Formats: sequence, structure tokens, C-alpha cells
Amino acid sequence: MVPKITSLSGYLHEYQRSIANPTGFWANIAETFFWRKKWDNILSWDFHKPKVEWFKGGKLNITENIFERHLFQRGEQTALIWEPNNPNEATRKYTYEELFLEVKSFANVLRNHAVKKGDRVAIYLPMVPELTIAMLACARIGAIHSVIFAGFSSNALAERIQDAEAKVLITSDGGFRGDKIINLKDTADEALAKCPTVDSNIVVKRTSQNIQWNNKIDFWWHDEMDKACEDAPSEVMDAEDPLFILYTSGSTGQPKGVLHTIGGYMIYTAYTFRNVFQYSSGDVYFCAADIGWITGHSYIVYGPLLEGATTVMFEGTPLYPTPSRYWEIINKHEVNQFYTSPTALRSLMSKGQEWIEKFNMPSLRVLGTVGEPINEEAWHWYHDHVGGNKCPIVDTWWQTETGGMMISPLAGVIPTKPAFATLPLPGIQPLIVDNEGDKLCGNSVEGNLCIKFPWPGIARTLWNNHDRYSDVYFGKYKGLFYTGDGVRRDEDGYYRILGRMDDVINVSGHRLGTAEIENAINEHPLVTESAVIGYKHEIKGKAIFAFVVCNHIPEGADDELKNSIGKGVSMMISAIARPDKILFVEGLPKTRSGKIMRRILRKIVENNGDYGDISTLLNPDIVEQIEIQYKDI
Ligand code: WTA
Repeated sequence: MVPKITSLSGYLHEYQRSIANPTGFWANIAETFFWRKKWDNILSWDFHKPKVEWFKGGKLNITENIFERHLFQRGEQTALIWEPNNPNEATRKYTYEELFLEVKSFANVLRNHAVKKGDRVAIYLPMVPELTIAMLACARIGAIHSVIFAGFSSNALAERIQDAEAKVLITSDGGFRGDKIINLKDTADEALAKCPTVDSNIVVKRTSQNIQWNNKIDFWWHDEMDKACEDAPSEVMDAEDPLFILYTSGSTGQPKGVLHTIGGYMIYTAYTFRNVFQYSSGDVYFCAADIGWITGHSYIVYGPLLEGATTVMFEGTPLYPTPSRYWEIINKHEVNQFYTSPTALRSLMSKGQEWIEKFNMPSLRVLGTVGEPINEEAWHWYHDHVGGNKCPIVDTWWQTETGGMMISPLAGVIPTKPAFATLPLPGIQPLIVDNEGDKLCGNSVEGNLCIKFPWPGIARTLWNNHDRYSDVYFGKYKGLFYTGDGVRRDEDGYYRILGRMDDVINVSGHRLGTAEIENAINEHPLVTESAVIGYKHEIKGKAIFAFVVCNHIPEGADDELKNSIGKGVSMMISAIARPDKILFVEGLPKTRSGKIMRRILRKIVENNGDYGDISTLLNPDIVEQIEIQYKDI
């Protein structure tokens, strides 16, 4: 197990040590894992190139660190508790021993489908145990998993499968979510029509609904498992071999395939999991995120299982069948640490006290949030009503690209302040720079958040696109990793994350690129061009506002057109990307070189008339026109 910091002085000491001697610090932690062969070199890095390698030459398999390492001590302990969407359906529990058997059998299924080390496997599943099993089975045989959130459309799914050139897809007949059934197989079939690299589509039976079946490539999960042998030796991997790709949105239209490698990610997720949540053996930990996003990868699957924890995986939504669902799960499984998003909290808060007041949750010790800035009201509600005034809140700031948490309190160790992610974790060296890239020293400063030294969990590249990796993260401020977030360091040296500074909108904790949404809107035959911005929303944090220029709007058909544009975006990307508001305009403010000035549109929506000098725009008059139109709605 990784070492656990238990006091503020312990944190200060470890932090200093991690900065003074980062390689020694991380090597000590790496020693607590099982390596087939020790590394040749702890760290080799250059943020200018950019290149980062941790523990290169070290040989291991991450699943041996989850299973073989723990079996002797905790083979019979529950590893995974699966809570279904419908509370009347039975919970499923897997001990470490049982989960291991499933993982090994499925590893053999993949081998039977000719999946080899380095091949990509796309996973498009709802929150069912098979999702965790499939990921770990890939890791067992050295295949690279690419999990695609089950809310994505066939178009988005196809794009991700094609980019990774996946050989196998794993999906299900359908998925339950609240009172809805999601037709995953249909969507997968549509996507697969455009994905010639996929030879096998392995289908989990979940909803038992009617589906199309293609004998050439479709295989039932349960049939394949029945045929598979239960013993699966693990592939010996290098610490720097890829573990997974996870696509995320950036400021251009193409999704980015963030790539994490095995050794560093393993060490980093395990260390941060144990320390931030102050996990102790025997605790039950519940992260309500979806495994389709990084939070689920790092803190439902890898971090907890590496540390021998009992992790809860929940299929449903916080509002189904009632807004008490989370609190019921917490009491049912006597959850000790609970981790969710500010959006979920705000939406539960808006449903009224009656859904929580009868729940006393005595087992809870630690509460966590992630994904977006938490407002003070939601923070206090969480603290008082969920935590009964007795649980520290860990507001954890991090990103898909960082692999694990970066700035966060350690529960009960670092004093918290509402809406502050507080202090950097050991090994993390944040730097705030102004727009010119000049370093802002001392306290009470605000600017762009960068990191100046590598940590083991940093993404190593973007799949098939190292140049883009170089541009996006290391191109803006030379020699620094740029996060895209704004931050304030207050008078006590505490960090408060202010939100994205780039063209990424964080809607309900989901990252969406403005360009990605605009491209989808522009696909509509009546649309000439569009500009998308985020605006403040009480529950979602940010919502999507689209300014759309059409070549023709049929008389009286505004609403119909808005609806069909919205549907188009849902189909091209996902319902989460559908604009909340659309305004048809005559033109968009642009610079003389044709760049859309989203900054001005943002100010119009914020009712802030301070546009700066607009006389140099290509079309300065359009600003006033849009302003008048906006005020009219
Ligand atoms: C935002 C999610 C404020 C931030 C783990 C970041 C946060 C983006 C916080 C990454 C937080 C995440 N406070 N903002 N505690 N945590 N963010 O890649 O803007 O889905 O850049 O990773 O979420 O989103 P991603």
C-alpha cells in the first residue's frame, strides 16, 4: 500500500520532500508496487520537446497489482459493489477473487478474438460490472482500452473508433438510465457501418430488448465467456507502454485521444486515492461518476482497486426513482467516502430538503467533488445536509490529461475553505502566469494555471497526434504544461479554480469544445455559420448559447428550426452538447482576418457593455444589432 499522510505537518514535510527530490519521492512510492523487473530510469523529461517518461524499463502488469498482490490478504473481501438503476433489482457484489476470475476469463475472450498487446479495444457500455471487467481484461493482455461514454451518438462513437483503429468493440443490447432505455446496440451498429477495423462486436445482455444481429461480427458476452478458460497469464508490460486512450474535447473540433501509460498512472491514481480520501482498509467508497469519463477510470476502477478498496459502481441517476437515491445507496452499503459533481449536488439541492432530511448517514466520513467549480451555496449544502457538519469536503481539481487529482485537500488533514481546491498535492508544482507568460509570484494573484514539473500521472501524448499534444499543452507558455484553467491564489496561498480560459465549456462537469458544437450546428442545411459560448446556469454551472447565422429561415419557422438544429447536435455529438439557447443573427462579430470574436458575444450575454475597441472589427455594426436582439429575448 502507498504511504498515507495523516497530519498537516506530515503534508508540509512530504510536500517539501517531493519538490526537493521528486524522483526519490516517487521512487519510494513505486517501491510499494509489484514489479516483474525494476525500472532503469526513474524520470526522463523535457517539456520543450515535449517528452515525459517515468520508470522506463520497469516491467509490470497493472492487474497483478490489483489482483495477485491483494489475493493473499483480501481474496474474500468485496472489491466491487454494483448498484443497479432500479432499486428493486439485486445488487451484485464481487470479491477480489471473483472479479479476478471474470477478468481472466474475459482476457481469454479477447485473446480468442485475436486481440494482442498494443491493439485497441473500444468499450461502449452503460455502468455495468462488465465495463470494469472489460477494462481490466484489456490491461491484463496489454491491449489499450478506449472507453466511450454511453451517451455519445453513433457519429461520435464512430469518430473515436476510427481514430484509435480499434479491433474489437464491446457494447450491450441496451442500458437502463432512470426511466429510460438507451438503445446502445442500434447506435453501435450505425457506428460500426463506418468502422472497417472492427472485426468483433461483443455484446453484453442487459436489457434483453430486441436488437439486430449480424452473425459475422456480433458475439454475446455470455457465450464467449462460457467458452473461455479461466486462467490467463498476464502480459509483461513496460511502465511506459500505453494503458488507455480516453477522448476529450479541446478547442478545435476533433476530439483528443488522451493517452496514459501504465506505470506512472498506476502509482499516481493509487497514491492520490488513498491520501485525498484518507481511505483505510475496510472502508466502502462510492464515486458516482460515469466510467466513460476520467473520474470513473481513475477513481472508480484503478485507484481504489489498486489500493485494495471496496468500490461502489452505480448504474443509474441521482434522481431515479426519487432524489433520495444516493442517500439510500450510502445507507445501504454504509459508504464512508462519497465523491460526486457540483452539478449533481445543485440538482439535488433544487429538489428540496424533503428528499434528504430523513437520511442520517452515520457511516459517511469524507465528501468529495470534482469536474467544475463548486459554488459556496452547494458547498454548504453538501457540508451541512449530506455530511451532517462532520465530514470534510475535498474539492479536487484535475483533468483528463493529469490522470489524477492535482490540487485538493487531504480529507481532515488540510483545513478547507468553501469553493477552494486548497493546496497542491505532493509532487505537484503549480505556477500562475499572466497572459504574456510572466510568472506571478506570491499570494493574492490571479492568472493562468500551469504546472512546471512532471508528475507520474501526466498524459504522455494524444493518440496519433503528438504535434497537437505539443501545441495544446506546451505551446502556449514555453516549458510549462498549460491546463486551460484560470486560477486565483489567495492571501493564504490557497488555490481557487475559476474555470476554463480557452474555448472549452464545462456543462454539468462535461467538457465540450465550442468548435465541436459549432461544427455540428453548421452541418444543418440552412445554417451558414455559428458561434457558441458558455453562460452561467444555476444547475449545470455553464449552459450553451449558440448564435446562428442562417441562409434562409422559412416564415414563422424559428422554433422548428431551433429544434432541428438541436436535434442535429444531439445526433452528431450527444444530448449533453445540445444548445440551451439559440439566437438567429444576421452575422457574427469578426476580426479582419475572419476570426469570430466569441469574447464579445460572451459580454453581450453577461450584459456587460465593455467590449473594448470594436472599431477594428470587420463588421462593428453587428455588435449593436446582436445586443438589441439579445435584449429582446
Ligand atoms: C474543471 C475532470 C473547478 C476544470 C476530472 C478542468 C474543476 C476540467 C474541478 C477538466 C474543480 C475539474 N474545481 N474546476 N475541483 N475539477 N474542473 O478533463 O475546468 O473532464 O480543466 O476532468 O474540469 O475536466 P475533465
